[in-house]
Amino acid sequence: MRKNIVAGNWKMNTTVAEGVKLAHEVNQAVVAAGDSLKCDVIIGVPFTHLTAVAGHISAIGLAAENCADHLSGAYTGEVSAPMVASTGATHVILGHSERREYYHETNEMLKTKVDLALEAGLKVIFCCGESLAQRKDGSYFDVIKAELVESLFHLSADQFKNIVIAYEPIWAIGTGETATSDQAQEIHAFIRGLLADKYGKDVANDTTILYGGSCKPSNAPELFAKPDIDGGLIGGASLKADSFMGIVTAF
Ligand code: PGA
Repeated sequence: MRKNIVAGNWKMNTTVAEGVKLAHEVNQAVVAAGDSLKCDVIIGVPFTHLTAVAGHISAIGLAAENCADHLSGAYTGEVSAPMVASTGATHVILGHSERREYYHETNEMLKTKVDLALEAGLKVIFCCGESLAQRKDGSYFDVIKAELVESLFHLSADQFKNIVIAYEPIWAIGTGETATSDQAQEIHAFIRGLLADKYGKDVANDTTILYGGSCKPSNAPELFAKPDIDGGLIGGASLKADSFMGIVTAF
């Protein structure tokens, strides 16, 4: 059966020293909570922090927020999937809407990144989700389907064990406006249905699907109570250990 996961996405926040302190606080809180926790915990941190943070955690997973679409070579400023894996990171977040919008990442480019991440032994937290205009004009089911089909559906069922999906409606990210639990559940069930059609019921039932977008301690219990919502990808509320733990303990 699939795992519940709460993953932080720090984005471009914290210095290395601040990040190490935050990671240490989260790790200690997870250690203290022990078996009472009903989810795995992952933190997504800037590239510069990965190695230092890896040395300060024992009970949580570690994700990069991106990786390059090339394996190695003359790509100044880029960080490859094997480099990410060599830090001790376990996961990489790919396809975040901020990367798609500000850095022009396409479904095709993300397909390459997914392949390189899996080859490097990383698990992928793959983000999808619609804009406000797409929600309003009703095209959101098609948008989400294209994101999944074009970047993930070339994978084998076996490879899919290393994929976590995060549904993040762009209109809910950092805006304080959360999708209602019914709106999120509708999309999560739709995504699980797509997985069932492509890979069968077992893969669909075993795939963790996270919700992201203004998730906080106050709304996490209602969201996580939905049958197809298996946790969250948390931006702003992951930058303080107590608010992040308020979500981690929401199951
Ligand atoms: P938010 O960000 O929780 O600050 O809305 C979520 C995300 O972008 O992953």
